Amino acid sequence: MNAKEIAARAALAELPAEGVIGLGTGSTTRLFIDALGELVQQGRRYIGVPTSEASRAQASALGIPLLSDDGPWDIAVCVDGADEVSPALDLIKGGGGAHTREKIVNASAKKNVIIVDESKLSAQLGVKWKIPIEVLHFAHAATAAHLVRFGTPTLRAGRTDSGNVIYDLAAGALADPAAIDRELHAIPGVVETGLFIRRADVVIVAKANGEIARLTRPE
Ligand code: 5RP
Repeated sequence: MNAKEIAARAALAELPAEGVIGLGTGSTTRLFIDALGELVQQGRRYIGVPTSEASRAQASALGIPLLSDDGPWDIAVCVDGADEVSPALDLIKGGGGAHTREKIVNASAKKNVIIVDESKLSAQLGVKWKIPIEVLHFAHAATAAHLVRFGTPTLRAGRTDSGNVIYDLAAGALADPAAIDRELHAIPGVVETGLFIRRADVVIVAKANGEIARLTRPE
C-alpha cells in the first residue's frame, strides 16, 4: 500500500457503524471511496454525499447510495483530502477544483477527517500551494483584477462542476490565512476560496513506511 492508500484505509476507523458520509474529491479520497464501497458491498449501511461529479460517479458505480445535492444533510463524518496542511490544521484545498462543494459538505458534517500523505504538511500555508479561488465565469477577468491585490492569479483551464472558473492565486506564505480568506470573500464574483480555516477535526497523515499520525485540531 502506498501512503495515500494507508491514509484512506485508516479513515475507516473514524466512521460510525452506519450513517451519512461526506465523500471528498481527489486521488486520496478516491481510495477512501473504494474502501467505503467494499463495506457497503458487505452490507454496511452507509449513504454518501458526494462533493464532485467524479466522486458521485465513482460512488454510484460502487453501489453506495447517495443523497440528493439539495441538502440539508445530517452528515456524521466527511472524509476528504487536502493540498497543504498547516501545523494548526488549517488547509489549502481545491487542487481538484472541487473546493466549493467540499466546503459546503464539510460545513454540514459533525466530524471532518482529512487524509493526506506527509508531503502535504507545511510550516505555513501558501508555501507549497497557491490558493484556488472559484470565480463566477461572468466578468471573471474583472474579478481577477481585484485578486491582484493579494498576489498573482493564474486562470486554470476548464470549468468547475458548477460551471465556474478557477484562479490559482500565488500569494506566498500566509501569515494570517483567516484574514486573507475574509478579504477574498468580500470581492464580488468570488464564489469560494480553497482556504479551509478550522474546518479539519482530524488529519490522518500517512508515511510511505506505513507509519500513521492522527492529528487533532488544537483548540
Ligand atoms: C479537490 C481537493 C483534493 O482533496 C486535494 O486536491 C487533494 O487531492 P489528492 O488527494 O489527489 O492529492 O481539494 O478539490
